[in-house]
Amino acid sequence: MKVVHTVEELRDQLRGQLRAAFVPTMGNLHEGHLSLMRMARQHGDPVVASIFVNRLQFGPNEDFDRYPRTLQADIEKLERERDVYVLFAPNETEMYPEPQSFRIQPPEDLGGILEGHFRPGFFDGVSTVVMKLFSCVQPSVAVFGKKDYQQLMVVRKMCRQFQLPVRILAHETVRDTDGLALSSRNMYLSPAERAEAPQLYAGLQAVQARIKSGQADLRDIEGAAAQALEKRGWKVDYLALRRQHDLNEPTTEQIQQGEPLVVLAAAKLGNTRLIDNLEI
Ligand code: PAJ
Repeated sequence: MKVVHTVEELRDQLRGQLRAAFVPTMGNLHEGHLSLMRMARQHGDPVVASIFVNRLQFGPNEDFDRYPRTLQADIEKLERERDVYVLFAPNETEMYPEPQSFRIQPPEDLGGILEGHFRPGFFDGVSTVVMKLFSCVQPSVAVFGKKDYQQLMVVRKMCRQFQLPVRILAHETVRDTDGLALSSRNMYLSPAERAEAPQLYAGLQAVQARIKSGQADLRDIEGAAAQALEKRGWKVDYLALRRQHDLNEPTTEQIQQGEPLVVLAAAKLGNTRLIDNLEI
């Protein structure tokens, strides 16, 4: 695997490549990320990965400074797996040589709801860096995880509306055996919090069970699931049942008629904010 730190080295490595498959990450790689690399390998060649902790997508009171940066260990993991041909690991001045005053702004009705409501500017930061990374790598396909469901939808819409020649592939959420979705932020959890953390997914599964049993009272279903978590000590930002296709609220009729749904949640356990979702 070639590790490059500048856009120029990256372009040298990829000159003439028309089928590159790309997996952008912020590093601290776990099995979820590695599964995305394996999927990329099945859909393009060469596979290019990036590791860049993107300041633009962090709010002023978020964990940018303490976000885990483990480049050496990440390189070793990627070397062992042998899926990735080039790893692009730029530093901040390489990615942002001047203040990034041009920004990509997703529409409010997608980028301003749910995660975007609780993290203002988050999807602007994500869209802007993904656009820049796409422009550096020029992949034909890129792989994103459903773990970050709304992010996947934002990236898809951006590619569609800007007619970027990149096919976006979605990978299922990779979970630990107890159901907890793998995440770099899980390492912030104390042992007691780690034991409690799978309850977030359990809450989503409870929502799924109620829908499947024919219940359709959106407010009641969402409220009960959020309350159950709050009772256990979680602080719930949102727990919302939405339509898969545009993340709008489904009507009762749509729920009853089997509209494809997704339940999305973000909640804090102590100081750690976890997100998860489940398609229904
Ligand atoms: P990061 O959180 O490192 O995630 C990189 C990719 O891995 C994303 O597509 C994410 O959805 C996917 N991923 C993370 N955990 C996963 C899991 N348990 N199962 C499946 N996929 C998982 O998402 C970002 O970085 C950034 O916002 C980025 C897109 C790189 C832009 O900065």
